[in-house]
Formats: sequence, structure tokens, C-alpha cells
Amino acid sequence: MLTQEMLDSIKKVEAKRKANAALEPERMSADAKDEVLKKYHPDYIESQFTDLVMGVNKGEKVPLELAELLEGKSRIKASDVDLSNPKYDVDVLVIGGGGSGSAAAIEAHRAGANVLVSTKLRIGDANTMMAEGGIQAADKPNDSPEIHFLDAFGGGHFAAKKPLLKKLVTEAPEAIQWLNGLGVEFDKAEDGSMLTTHGGGTSRKRMHAAKDYSGAEIMRTLRDEVQCEGIEVVDFSAAVEIILDDEGKAAGAVLMNMETKELCVARAKTVIIATGGAGRIHYQGFPTTNHYGATADGLVLAYRVGAKLLYPETLQYHPTGTAYPQQIYGALVTEKVRSLGAKLVNKDGEVFMHPLETRDVAAASIIKECRDGKGGIKTPFGEGVWLDTPMIELKNGEGTIESRIPAMLRMFSKYDIDIRKTPILVYPTLHYQNGGIDIDTNCMSGVENLFVAGEAVGGIHGTNRLMGNSLLDVVVFGRDAGKSAAAKAKDVKVGKLTLAHIDSFEKEREEAGVTTDTLSPKLLPHYAREVS
Ligand code: FUM
Repeated sequence: MLTQEMLDSIKKVEAKRKANAALEPERMSADAKDEVLKKYHPDYIESQFTDLVMGVNKGEKVPLELAELLEGKSRIKASDVDLSNPKYDVDVLVIGGGGSGSAAAIEAHRAGANVLVSTKLRIGDANTMMAEGGIQAADKPNDSPEIHFLDAFGGGHFAAKKPLLKKLVTEAPEAIQWLNGLGVEFDKAEDGSMLTTHGGGTSRKRMHAAKDYSGAEIMRTLRDEVQCEGIEVVDFSAAVEIILDDEGKAAGAVLMNMETKELCVARAKTVIIATGGAGRIHYQGFPTTNHYGATADGLVLAYRVGAKLLYPETLQYHPTGTAYPQQIYGALVTEKVRSLGAKLVNKDGEVFMHPLETRDVAAASIIKECRDGKGGIKTPFGEGVWLDTPMIELKNGEGTIESRIPAMLRMFSKYDIDIRKTPILVYPTLHYQNGGIDIDTNCMSGVENLFVAGEAVGGIHGTNRLMGNSLLDVVVFGRDAGKSAAAKAKDVKVGKLTLAHIDSFEKEREEAGVTTDTLSPKLLPHYAREVS
């Protein structure tokens, strides 16, 4: 039930709606952005970070929760595993069955490799499936990969690895055509051209979408393709350690059956980590938009065998997580809602920012408004600001919400909230790990024959990602990782398998004085309350 405070505030929002819809809010200056980020963005709360005391990134800052996992104990002992008797023996092992893992598997298979996909839940249970708003590609006459590059480079605070970002934007138009050819049902105009919109920080309308089910539609298509091409997938099998060979090259993984905890060996000439994000770590106690399995596993697996991480201290809080009702607390309210014209307003119904500032700036501005501005609208379990969704139809005409963002309409209508008539309450929610494993342009990490794709990669987006560049990197880098891993596999002679790194890592823990018992990778979040 909406509280009286919420109902009173909604009246103020309604009274100002027409005037607010006509308003053109100013963009923030670079200095103002820096100031709001430093003061209000969760990435700047020093007490929430620590320096790693061991491993390749020793001395570098990471969130407390990630440090605990990166410096955690292995779930297995080397002696638990019979390396001489692999259950699977393949050219390319893909760890993870989301968008990037599936794209990688398809391309590696098409390149002639014998591919195995192992996934700790089921293929398609991944953040790709949860993505809503769209996928960027500069494929319109008024746009270009160069302009796309500039938008993303600036939005990412000029920290992206330029060759990776260049690859992302130049291969984007082809990625859209590839998906279109596979059968993704993109939104199109009557003449067959793609409908595109703006996202936060874009200077051109280059967001391609399938309504607000974009990720689900892309994942559906990729999963179908993996199945149609007969690629072997083992579900409910989590990778718990990367296996190296005696030359220190990646040569497979130990897989754990999620139900029986039985271990088996997958030997491979090359390995691709495509394990996705980390929202279910709930950094700083934030709720998340992420899939149940998003627990930073790939970062732990790679770190333990010596791969370097890039920008692991930067996380993305999506500005508009659901703040009410409680049943969908933290769920994604796609940025497309703002692209279509909804503005963010405070408890007095005043527009307090441009709705399409880049994500980190938008999230920090909402936190500022709640803390030091007019104050957030209180709910029985938190607070938020209004996203005035009825503005969308004021601007674009009746029926727009049903036709362009039906998932949003349905999600809220389950709780008797009609977003065509009522604004919705939002607050930042943990959405994306900007950082991850450092790779080269062939998607290979610092460990020979260990490739990475998707959200587990760091450096493509710098320290803040723009909307729609993640579905894009999943496809571009997923495909490239698959091609590179398959090509590399042709020349690989796997040496003697070893898990010696487990003991050396444990020794390093002792020497560094790490005494925690935390097992990692985490694999799944723990929500159950202890029963006394
Ligand atoms: O707002 C959204 O639809 C999210 C998109 C993204 O993270 O790229």
C-alpha cells in the first residue's frame, strides 16, 4: 500500500507534469559531475575498499567483499581430483552459458573446434537474459563507430583500453547483422529499418532493441543456435578451479556437480571464461538487477591462476532500480524509460537533473537528492525519487508504453501500479561490474590459452559503461573469443595437467597472513536465514 506521504507527493508530481514534460533540463558540467561522483557515488566510499595483500594485483584496491573472495580458500584440494582421467576432452571449454559463452561456443564450433559449454545453472540463466533496454551500434547515416567511440570513451572517464573499445565499436554494426540473421526480432519501422533510441551519454540514437526484452530475445536466439548446432552443454556444473598444464598454460577446469558436489575434469586445449557479473555479491548491501548466479566466479578462477584484473574497484549502480514495491526491490527499470521521455523528479515534483546523464553521474545525483536535496520519498523499507512514467505518453502518444516497454508495464501491473498513470519510485541498484580480467585484443588473459569474454572482462568500458554497450560486448567479444580460442587450439599440445597452483596459492595466503575460511568461487548467494 502506498503511504500517505507517497500519495501526497504523487499529487505534486501530477500538478507539475505538463510543465516538467516541456522542460529541457541542463546537462551538468564536467566539474559538477566530478563533484557529485566524489561525494555521493558508492565507488568513492574509501571504507568500503581494501588493498589486496596477495596475487597479481597485490597492493591494489578492491571492494571488501571481492577481496574476501579473491583471497579466499579453494573449494577443493588437488588430491581430491584424478587429473589422469578426464571426463571431457575437448578443443575449447567455455565456462558459462550466458550471452558471451553462447556466442563464443557458436563461433568456436563453426571454426571446427570440438566445444564443451559448462554452466553452473542452465544455459541462458545469465545477466544477458535480464538485459532490457538494448544494444548499441553505429549503423545509421548520421552516426559512425568513431562517434560511438567518443561517447563510450568519455562516459568511461577516458579509462577504456583503446584497442578493446575500438574493437567494440567497429564490430558493432556487424554484430547487429549477425544477431538479425540468427533471428533476433529487433524493433523495426514499417520500411524494415531498425528503430533506435538514445541512452545515457549517447550523442546519437543508436540503441537497437527488442521492446524492453532485448536481452531475453538475444539470449533466446543464441541458446537456440547452440542447441541447433549440436554443441555439447553440461548444465549445473560449476567450474571451481582452472587446470593448468606443466608449462603454466590453461588446460581445462575442475567441474563440480551443483547437486551431488561430485567433481570431474574437463581437459581442453583452450579455455574461455564467460561467467558474467557480480551483482549477487551485493556490494555495500545494495540490491541488484542481476541474475541469481552472478557471483564474480570468473574473476576468482582467473586470479588464482595468475591472471591480472583491471579496474575491479569500479562497479555500476543503475540509477533506476525499483524502490517500491518491496517484492521487486532493486529490479531493473530500464534506461529506455528515460530515453522515451520519463524524467526524474523529487518529492515536490521538481525535475532535479537531466534524465540521460551517464549512469554513474545519474546514480550519484539521485543519492544526492535523497540525502542532501529535497530528500527522498520514504517507503516502509527505504526511499527513492519518482520516475514520472506518464510523461512518456504525454510526449509520444497513447499506446507507447504498451508497445515499447511492455515488460515494465507488466512488472508493475502485477502490483496494481499502472505506470501509464502513476509515477514509479526508483533508487540506484547494483547492476554491472565495470572491471574484470585484463585481456588483449584476441581476448586472451595474462595466462596463456585462457580467454575471457563478456562481463568478466575489464577495460572495454573504462570505469563506467554506457547503456547498451554490454549486450554489445557480449556479442562482439564472445564471438571473437570463440574464434581466437578455436584458432589457438589448433596449435596447442596440452602438457601434463596440474592443480599445483592450489597449494601455492594457499601458501601465499599463509605468508600474507590471510586467515579467513571463506571458500571461493562463491557460486551462489546465500539468502536463507539461520534457523535456531
Ligand atoms: O537500462 C537498461 O536497460 C540497461 C541496459 C544496460 O545495462 O546496458
